[in-house]
Amino acid sequence: MAPIIFSGIQPTGRKHLGNYIGAITQYVAGQDRGEPAIYCIVDLHATTVAYDPAELRARVLDTTAILLAAGLDPERCILFRQGDVAEHTELCWLLTSVTALGELNRMHQFRDKSAAQRELVSAGLLLYPVLMAADVLAYRAGEVPVGEDQREHLELMRDIATRFNARFGEGLLVVPEQRIPAVGARVRDLQSPERKMSTTGGSEQGTVYVLDDATTIMKKFKRAVTDSDDPPVIRCDEDKPGVTNLVEILAAVSGVSSDSVVQELASARGYGDLKVAVGEAVAAELAPLQERYRGLRDDEVALEAILAAGAAKARAIASVTLADVRAAMGVGPPRG
Ligand code: TRP
Repeated sequence: MAPIIFSGIQPTGRKHLGNYIGAITQYVAGQDRGEPAIYCIVDLHATTVAYDPAELRARVLDTTAILLAAGLDPERCILFRQGDVAEHTELCWLLTSVTALGELNRMHQFRDKSAAQRELVSAGLLLYPVLMAADVLAYRAGEVPVGEDQREHLELMRDIATRFNARFGEGLLVVPEQRIPAVGARVRDLQSPERKMSTTGGSEQGTVYVLDDATTIMKKFKRAVTDSDDPPVIRCDEDKPGVTNLVEILAAVSGVSSDSVVQELASARGYGDLKVAVGEAVAAELAPLQERYRGLRDDEVALEAILAAGAAKARAIASVTLADVRAAMGVGPPRG
């Protein structure tokens, strides 16, 4: 049976190569398997840390345009903005009744993000994982494509669904499975290959953005940190994180295995050839996306219309779940 696929993505125009290889290409592929595939731009989650309202609106549209440019097709998936579908916030509240405060307090992401806040640690930051659970559970999705960093949130989501069913009725909510991307999870910072490529923790030179122009992309790859093996050896190995990263990125964007990349570069003179090959492949992969992005991003009316149509489809599914949940919990008037 085709799975219901659900994933959420943060609203930012600064999507990087790890997001692209790990999440975005997986979203595109999910359109052929999901029944339906549902993708949500999580503007409500973005309000849990300091942010600017006008900026948030703009970043949602950036993200929408990037996803469409990458190949999401509103006819073949449901693409919408979280804040457009009130069922998410309602279910979030209802799920707090089966969520332990202690568990929320222990979440690593909460600990890290609350330590990083300068002014206010909002209650929203604590409730972030409950809203995320509501996102998925509202659609009774079976499959959630997200990175390794979301494992703890997925575990909590599964606990919440299980506890909810035990308390209010077996089978009411679906306990979802995480689907971790094979390669994307491993895309590393080009300057510090021992850590993941990331918008927040990484270096500007080590992070390749989906919207970087070809010259910038080539420059970043040419300056990528490799190692000082003499003679240089192109192979994947734990103690060669820089080279492994370049090989894996090249393999991912070319749609081949790391082994065949290594074979192909067997006669390379040093790491320069590898850096140029991966830079060119990434630039070539992203060029058509960037071209489509520019065509889409300016027409904000059209983007809003796509999001509104997606929200209507999302609401049609989520409202059924919410009616069942309210009835089971004894909330609101009895069902007629
Ligand atoms: N927390 C996720 C992230 O930072 C984004 C997200 C929000 C999400 N709601 C979701 C992912 C639901 C999967 C399912 O990447």
